[in-house]
Amino acid sequence: MQVIICDSPEQVGSRAADIIEEHVRRGPAVLGLATGSSPAGTYRELIRRHREEDLSFRDATAFTLDEYAGLPLDHEQSYHSTIRREFLDDVDLPLSRLFTPHGDAEDLRAEAARYDTAIREAGGIHVQLLGIGANGHIGFNEPTSSLTSRTRVKTLARITRSDNARFFPGGEVPQLCLTQGLGTISEARQAVLVAIGSNKAAAVRAMVEGPVSAFCPASVLQLHPRAVVVLDREAASELQLTDYYHRAQELNDRLLAR
Ligand code: GLP
Repeated sequence: MQVIICDSPEQVGSRAADIIEEHVRRGPAVLGLATGSSPAGTYRELIRRHREEDLSFRDATAFTLDEYAGLPLDHEQSYHSTIRREFLDDVDLPLSRLFTPHGDAEDLRAEAARYDTAIREAGGIHVQLLGIGANGHIGFNEPTSSLTSRTRVKTLARITRSDNARFFPGGEVPQLCLTQGLGTISEARQAVLVAIGSNKAAAVRAMVEGPVSAFCPASVLQLHPRAVVVLDREAASELQLTDYYHRAQELNDRLLAR
């Protein structure tokens, strides 16, 4: 696992955008997109590069990580609408190649299986962008999720529902969701997790330096051969080996600059 500690949230966005840009410039890329506030800076930076630096997404395909059950695609708070608002509508990735699980499908289990197959049929995800929940979830894989799980229906944890309540003023956060499984996420060729702020520090510590455990679902990334974790100082504040991560990053940057 590569750990990059940045001076500011803007730098987190820029570092994560560098990795995604590399995949996009290499050829038709299959992107895994996350919602939430953490990746917002990454999207802003990618949009800027699209506008100012000729970065085109016209040949890319995108799969979102998860979706609330019961919400139609065009619901304001669906992750489909969110990802359009925060990223897709501002770049040239064709809407016909944005895939999200359908939260309003009649048979949610069949929809989850269909989505998992669609990712495989697209050739798998090249780079998966991730945030982390305060309880260590990735996607909506709550603590105790199987480390080899596939896309499926999950029950949201109380803390996740209360963390996300701010997006549903006057309404209820759904109880159920569809989420790529930890096994599905692990199949991405590269994973980039971004975390910002001190409320993520304990989850980040458990993910990076704790044991691999279903109790901290993000810790499954320790088993991934190409996982990069990009943090601001606050999110990194509970890590023990910060000196090592800084030194490794410095040497890595020097190697790349050669
Ligand atoms: C939601 C999403 C996750 C995201 C998490 C953290 O639960 N399903 O993919 O990582 O929120 O969100 P935020 O970045 O806003 O803290």
